[in-house]
Amino acid sequence: MQLVIDSANIESINKLIEFFPIDGVTTNPSIIVNEQKPFFPLLKEIRSLIGEERELFVQVIAKNAKEMVEEARFICEALSGNVLVKVPVTMEGLKAIKLLKVEGIRTLATTIYTPMNAYLAAKAGAEYVAPYVNRIDNLTGDGVKVVSEIIEIFKRHHLSCKVLAASFKNVQQIHNISLAGAHGITAAPELIEALVEHPSIKENVEKFRKDWFDEYGKESLLLNSSK
Ligand code: E4P
Repeated sequence: MQLVIDSANIESINKLIEFFPIDGVTTNPSIIVNEQKPFFPLLKEIRSLIGEERELFVQVIAKNAKEMVEEARFICEALSGNVLVKVPVTMEGLKAIKLLKVEGIRTLATTIYTPMNAYLAAKAGAEYVAPYVNRIDNLTGDGVKVVSEIIEIFKRHHLSCKVLAASFKNVQQIHNISLAGAHGITAAPELIEALVEHPSIKENVEKFRKDWFDEYGKESLLLNSSK
């Protein structure tokens, strides 16, 4: 299951890349605007931080297919490495996804709220769909159920599109999505860090170290021990 950072914050990405097994970075217009930096220089900075292999997802702004396609081309020309263009799943978006597929530009269909949204995007040629788990929950829907059904539909109909679940507000949502079999999750930095947090871990580590120090006095003795 892919683990992707949903942020354009350089400091956060830098830290997560160092400590976590990260596969890529997703952005959207709101995430970019939060950083208050020029668009392409910021994306190029992210690219240089994450390297050429990790996937970088950049969203179009236009509302009609023709302009979406032009923006997608522009994004792919401006950025090096593995780039995917995020396209909202409107009618114009579906048209753009179809056209971009013909051109060989990889897409992620975003703003996915229903299994049928996902089905259409997959059939149009999107490489990924991004169901908005928490936003669905907030509409008194069931984000995990929507993701499970998307996965089931893709399996039954042999659609090769991957599910990169998005929009999370807590670890339990990510846990449930993982069990449902999503191909990946994209989450805010603080939520990715929360995946490793458990009070017992710190307590256990402290106890192991105390036992060691009580017997041998200092940590470096481990490296000085004969093999
Ligand atoms: C990712 O594709 C989405 O843009 C993002 O995850 C939405 O998350 P939010 O609902 O927390 O804003």
